Parts: sequence; C-alpha cells; structure tokens
Amino acid sequence: MFEARAIESDSKPVFYAELAEQLTSLLHGETDAIANAANTAALLFEMMPDINWAGFYFLRDAQSGDGQELVLGPFQGKAACVRIAIGRGVCGAAVAKRQTMRIEDVHAFADHIACDSASRSELVVPLVKANRVIGVLDLDSPFPARFDADDQAGVEKLAAIYLAASSI
Ligand code: SME
Repeated sequence: MFEARAIESDSKPVFYAELAEQLTSLLHGETDAIANAANTAALLFEMMPDINWAGFYFLRDAQSGDGQELVLGPFQGKAACVRIAIGRGVCGAAVAKRQTMRIEDVHAFADHIACDSASRSELVVPLVKANRVIGVLDLDSPFPARFDADDQAGVEKLAAIYLAASSI
C-alpha cells in the first residue's frame, strides 16, 4: 500500500523534489492514464498546502463534432465544469499557447471560468506528449498569488512524471 509521507521542508524546491519521488513511486508499474491521473490528483490534493482543486482535463472530440475541446478528467475538489473550448478560460489558454498559465488573481483574468467561487489563484500546466498537447493539469487555490515560479517548476516536473508513466 502506498502511503504519502508528510514533507516538512520550508524550501519549495526540496518540497517538490520529495513530492516528485513520491509521485514516481505511486505511479510505478502502472501505465493506465486515467488511474494515474486519479492518483496524481489525490496525491497533490493531499500534499500541497492551500489548494482547493487539483485535477486533469483531457482533449477529446468536441460535442459539436467540430475539432477538440477539454473534457474534465480525474480530480479532487468541488464538482467542476465539464467542457472547456480551446482558448477559453485559463485551461483553454494553456492549451492554445502551449505554455503554463500562472494566474496570481483569477478575478483579474478576464476569461477565467469560475468552477469554485473560492478560487483566487490558479496554475495550469499543459500536458505535452510527443509534441502533442493531450490535456492540462490544473491547480486552484483560495489564496491570491499562491503559486510562484518554484511551484510552476515543481508542478511542471510532476506533470512530466505523470506523462512519462502513462500510456496516452
Ligand atoms: N478555472 C478554470 C476552469 C477549471 S476549474 O478551475 C477546475 C479555467 O478558467 O479554465
């Protein structure tokens, strides 16, 4: 049985290095993309302080039949909006720009899609495998400016561990 170990360090790089080790061991020997996303969301939600939502959206065929859109995947937190068009919201922007979106104040981001009204800051990392965006890893916090450059680097590494472990 996997049991998450508390991480005591005040240093974010040390925190993320330890979290990366725990995620690697949690996903070891399993390649199912949904199971691994579920466990990744659970570990991040349990271990990261001051977050109210952690989860995945994956690119799927759009309901309209035209192109692709993000569809809600495994997550922890309050129930969330299911479909997000590419380019819409913080998540859709991360896909369209193929870059991490670190939003200090979601109220100041005009196109933010509010799933939980408590959310104040957000970090969205695009998941890129074989040069193709396949979805995003999304973290929300009830505190403004919860995520800094160390969080971005740490969560980008965690997303890479998820991608390397999972067949997608
Ligand atoms: N806030 C996101 C929507 C997803 S929820 O935060 C879970 C966005 O603007 O894309």
